[in-house]
Amino acid sequence: MTTEGVLLERDGYLAIVTVNRPSKLNALDDQTIAELDATFAAIDVDDSVGAVIVTGAGEKAFVAGADISVLAKQGVLDGIENARRGQALTLRMESCSKPVLAAINGFALGGGLELALACDVRFASSNAKVGLPEVSLGIIPGYGGSQRLPRLVGSGNALQLILQGDAIDASEALRIGLVNGVFEPEELMDKVKAVAKRMVMRGPTALSLAKQAVRRGAQMPLVDALALEADLFGIISSTDEMKEGMTAFLEKRKPNWLRK
Ligand code: COA
Repeated sequence: MTTEGVLLERDGYLAIVTVNRPSKLNALDDQTIAELDATFAAIDVDDSVGAVIVTGAGEKAFVAGADISVLAKQGVLDGIENARRGQALTLRMESCSKPVLAAINGFALGGGLELALACDVRFASSNAKVGLPEVSLGIIPGYGGSQRLPRLVGSGNALQLILQGDAIDASEALRIGLVNGVFEPEELMDKVKAVAKRMVMRGPTALSLAKQAVRRGAQMPLVDALALEADLFGIISSTDEMKEGMTAFLEKRKPNWLRK
């Protein structure tokens, strides 16, 4: 599927979603957000997709933020509406039933970093710059950045990034745990695909339920989260997938997951 602002390509079980407005450094306008939302809705229910990689078109940017020419015109009600639209997209990405990996191939600023924060794991090219510069434009993060960044890197690191408004480079992002790894630009996509392919080798239902356990559990008190984990453990124990995984181990062969 190809739409104007978003490209969807396949590499076997991988879906590669590319934000495609390189002339505007892939800034997110309303149409691009709607296209990303529709793309993730389709991926979520597509059993032939095992994992998703999100990246940006061109060599310069992952996504350089929400489109400032749109933000500049907004008032109270459309400001709320705009934030809710971006938040709905990031929630959809975060709750996708497949692993979602960000390949941050350049600037990931504002809404761009917020997209990456909604992914399960993030890898950056060595020339990437990431940050939440909203306060330098007289606004605040609105697509989940003020909530997801502190949950990922701790409130001290997050508050410095959010209040100072400066971007950091890939090595600093790695140091504070904002990205899982850094690769040379020409290697980035192959390295991220290699990680995604390792994930796709695992049980698809197990991947989905493990992600649910982490994602939903993070929003609960520990005792409730442990109860959720036990319930999900019970559900996975009822599946043919579990039988296949265990049988394959005992028979010393690779599991044959029931992927389409
Ligand atoms: N919204 C709208 N347009 C954007 C954009 C954004 N967030 N980021 C970049 N662009 C556009 C520029 O306006 C420019 O368009 P033009 O050629 O029609 O003038 C084009 O993308 C290229 O950007 P440019 O600024 O010329 O590239 P650069 O290499 O000099 O600088 C950045 C790169 C990322 C440092 C700079 O573009 C920037 O600061 N962008 C805004 C980042 C930001 O604040 N994002 C958070 C928004 S909430």
